[in-house]
Amino acid sequence: MFDQVLQEVEAQCRTERIPMLGPEKAKFLAGCVEEAKPSLIVECGTAIGYSGLWMLRVLKAAGSGRLITVEIDADRAAQARANFERAGMTDLVDSRIGDAQEVLESIQEPVDFLLLDNNFNNYFPCFQAIESRLTNPATVLADNVGIGADAMADYLGHVREHYESETHWFDIDLPWVKQDAIEVSIYRR
Ligand SMILES: C[S@@+](CC[C@H](N)C(=O)[O-])C[C@H]1O[C@@H](n2cnc3c(N)ncnc32)[C@H](O)[C@@H]1O
Repeated sequence: MFDQVLQEVEAQCRTERIPMLGPEKAKFLAGCVEEAKPSLIVECGTAIGYSGLWMLRVLKAAGSGRLITVEIDADRAAQARANFERAGMTDLVDSRIGDAQEVLESIQEPVDFLLLDNNFNNYFPCFQAIESRLTNPATVLADNVGIGADAMADYLGHVREHYESETHWFDIDLPWVKQDAIEVSIYRR
């Protein structure tokens, strides 16, 4: 059932042009989660749950870890919740509706994995909103750093100056983008 839900979510994103990582970047993301073995992942920008499903599959296989994912669009968040439920992941995920920066300010637990995939100019405010609860070290991924570099220049400048940070480029087979990058930063105090 899980694979069927993932395939349907990917197909819906392609047909309705709902933004998602796509399989090339999602495989990379899953590998990062596998390596980091996080206790708590926070994702900014759920859309209808495509990237969330990829991360949840890794957490379920590992037998530990939870995901808090935030989406400002209530209709998309409702679809994501339905998709998480159909995939049998409800107990591992807390899907919240709201502005990511505001929701992140309310999270009090330690966060060891952060995925920034919401509106580009909000990456740095979101990072700053959760920074005091990031573990030492924590893995921080930012999507769309190829196509969105100008809008997130403050964020990229900060992580590249202060942390071990690498840009990973991908050829992508999506209707709306053919090449883009993910920034992987290892946050340390
Ligand atoms: C690129 S999509 C997320 C894709 C998703 N991570 C995936 O790969 O399946 C970005 C999402 O961020 C949401 N978004 C935009 N601004 C936001 C904000 N301030 N807070 C939370 N979500 C926001 C958009 O509604 C959109 O659904």
